[in-house]
Amino acid sequence: MKLIKSKSRVRKHGEVFTPDWMVKMMLSEPGIQKKIKDIRATFFEPSVGEGAFVTEILHQKLNHVDEISSKSEWIKNALWVVASIYGIELLTDNLIIAKQNLIEVLIEHYQKFYQKELSRKSDLYKSARYIIDNNIVQGNALTYLNNSNNLILFSEWEKREDKVSQRQFTFKSLIESDNSNQYQSTEFIKINKVYKLKIEKV
Ligand SMILES: C[S@@+](CC[C@H](N)C(=O)[O-])C[C@H]1O[C@@H](n2cnc3c(N)ncnc32)[C@H](O)[C@@H]1O
Repeated sequence: MKLIKSKSRVRKHGEVFTPDWMVKMMLSEPGIQKKIKDIRATFFEPSVGEGAFVTEILHQKLNHVDEISSKSEWIKNALWVVASIYGIELLTDNLIIAKQNLIEVLIEHYQKFYQKELSRKSDLYKSARYIIDNNIVQGNALTYLNNSNNLILFSEWEKREDKVSQRQFTFKSLIESDNSNQYQSTEFIKINKVYKLKIEKV
């Protein structure tokens, strides 16, 4: 990955990507490593770029899933890991690349774990894409707005028996809320849209 695309992009958007070695070094901090080994611990990157941090976090979290999961548990665990990573990126071209990079990390791990191809038609692939599209979003992290001038939305994923519920809330409400009382003051704007994460039989 090139660290700089053009001088004008650096000037306009501060677009300088972080080299792999530095990402790895920053993530090696013990507190972060502890969270990496927690499937449901969430990570948020306010300026995703092409996904230097989010892809490495996904890769390391999936390494852990590879280690602890049986063949019947891997897909569910891997989807929770995908659902634990959030990000915002201003520029649409970077956003598309970042989302593609994330799905490729998932595919690579799946194929290594199960020793078979992951079909783009599989439930796992479709569920992962759906989650990534909702978690890695276009917007301006400083104004809380996206290109359509709407407030940036994120989703909270919760397990409900064999289903997963998706509760959407505005990024603004998350940031502006009092830390000691974050949840109560979070403004949930769309409650209980239940999306069934279809689990592929292997
Ligand atoms: C310094 S690069 C870092 C990208 C990535 N985090 C990395 O380390 O490789 C900054 C990125 O933030 C994006 N960006 C700039 N201003 C932003 C804003 N207000 N909200 C969200 N993203 C922004 C740029 O488009 C660029 O992709």
